Amino acid sequence: MIKCENISYSYEDYQYNEVEVLKDISFEINEKERVLLFGINGSGKSTLLKLLNGLIYPKSGTYQFNNEIVNKKYLKKNSKTFRQTLSLQMQDPSSMLFNPTVYDEIAFGLKQFEFDELDAKVHHWAKLFKIEKILKTSPLTLSGGQKQKVLLASLLCIEPKVLLMDEPTAHLDPPTTGWLVDFLKELEITSLIATHNLSLGKELGERAIVLGEKHQIIYDGEIKTLLEDSSTLIEAQLLHKHTHSHNKLEHEHYHLHDWK
Ligand SMILES: Nc1ncnc2c1ncn2[C@@H]1O[C@H](COP(=O)(O)OP(=O)(O)O)[C@@H](O)[C@H]1O
Ligand SMILES: [Mg+2]
Repeated sequence: MIKCENISYSYEDYQYNEVEVLKDISFEINEKERVLLFGINGSGKSTLLKLLNGLIYPKSGTYQFNNEIVNKKYLKKNSKTFRQTLSLQMQDPSSMLFNPTVYDEIAFGLKQFEFDELDAKVHHWAKLFKIEKILKTSPLTLSGGQKQKVLLASLLCIEPKVLLMDEPTAHLDPPTTGWLVDFLKELEITSLIATHNLSLGKELGERAIVLGEKHQIIYDGEIKTLLEDSSTLIEAQLLHKHTHSHNKLEHEHYHLHDWK
């Protein structure tokens, strides 16, 4: 389904120097696989998700979706199908909410992709996400958790085959995080979810891809195995060694960097 071969990407800094933020990235994701993308801030997670969503293109290497190379030419021809098949939830939900009401926000994609029974579908998704009462409200006035629910409803109502999520729990309180984890667990969809929260990750998929601080993949395999692999976790800076003193006795132990 998704196939990346030797992808590199760079941004220009303020002096027009190319700064590489993805280096030689290769992996495949098959249908119905649920993959977590781990890495500290700045490792390149958001850039990789944007690339998979066709918002930017690799500087070298190739990205294939369903055996077709995704580039400008491909998207010029297939952007509508592509955008319906792959949904990206960006890191900041506010940046993706732009309609006057929650109702319009959910209806927007349905209209774009010419779904029928629009009103019934909006209500179906609003009920599922328990946001029926705020359908007439402006998305901009909502709490972080409500915004995330509205965004997710508007992304999922067009029935994408692949869901790309960028730190979906960043704006959520513990109960809403719990709700989202339960919801995503039940969802049978190919997914790639970026996070630096390891305990959350193991609830949301079976496989992990880890980006290191040098912007390369330093691990691709089962999450279970990753969680036991402290040297990779330390290399990814997802785990940190602390030295403590108790009654003049020094000892070392590991901390998961699990706070948000
Ligand atoms: N539009 C941009 N222009 C220049 N540099 C960028 C831009 N977006 C991201 N970067 C830089 O690229 C690197 C990777 O960023 P990002 O993909 O957002 O990482 P992550 O999502 O893992 O935190 C960071 O050093 C970031 O500052
Ligand atoms: Mg990011």
